[in-house]
Amino acid sequence: MKKIAVFVSGSGSNAENIANYFQQKEVELALIVSNNPKAYALERAKKLSIKSITIDRAEFYETNKIVEILQKHEIDLLILAGFLWLVPPRLISAFPNKIINIHPALLPQYGGKGMYGMHVHRAVVKNKETETGITIHWVNEKYDDGAILFQAKCSLTGTDTPEDIAHKIHKLEFEHYPKIIETILFSN
Ligand code: GAR
Repeated sequence: MKKIAVFVSGSGSNAENIANYFQQKEVELALIVSNNPKAYALERAKKLSIKSITIDRAEFYETNKIVEILQKHEIDLLILAGFLWLVPPRLISAFPNKIINIHPALLPQYGGKGMYGMHVHRAVVKNKETETGITIHWVNEKYDDGAILFQAKCSLTGTDTPEDIAHKIHKLEFEHYPKIIETILFSN
């Protein structure tokens, strides 16, 4: 059995989709980690009977606590799904090539600090883009900068609102993120 941890900051719809995808498979979503005690993702975790923890900034950046928790749970892959904090070097070196992120745009466009969630979709509308998409990538010490594993596109109409785009993006994320996770878990 492979074990994964999903890191969240908000709604957690990707975390729930990942949990459902792996329900009858040899993968356990062992832990949901939130930096936000009010994240709706924590309600989802409760409903799905998945263990969850909330970390605070000082613990995350100044102690080894999260590394120890993940090691204790024997986590094979760390999955960021709407997690908004930069991952600290100590976590990256404890889990080399074992942390991935999903970003709601076609990186390297619309990435970097402050580019998350609806901010991305609003910028896409403002620039009158005719397409957008998702990027799944390895995590390094910068925002949205690690090697790209996968991208998928969707086209936009001139009338798509940021909310419409968020809906299209979530659809793509739900379809592809679990499959890419599965491929990585079983490819070595
Ligand atoms: C997702 O669309 C994810 O790609 C995005 O936040 C949303 C979280 O939704 N992540 C980022 O913008 C990170 N830069 P969810 O909480 O419902 O899964």
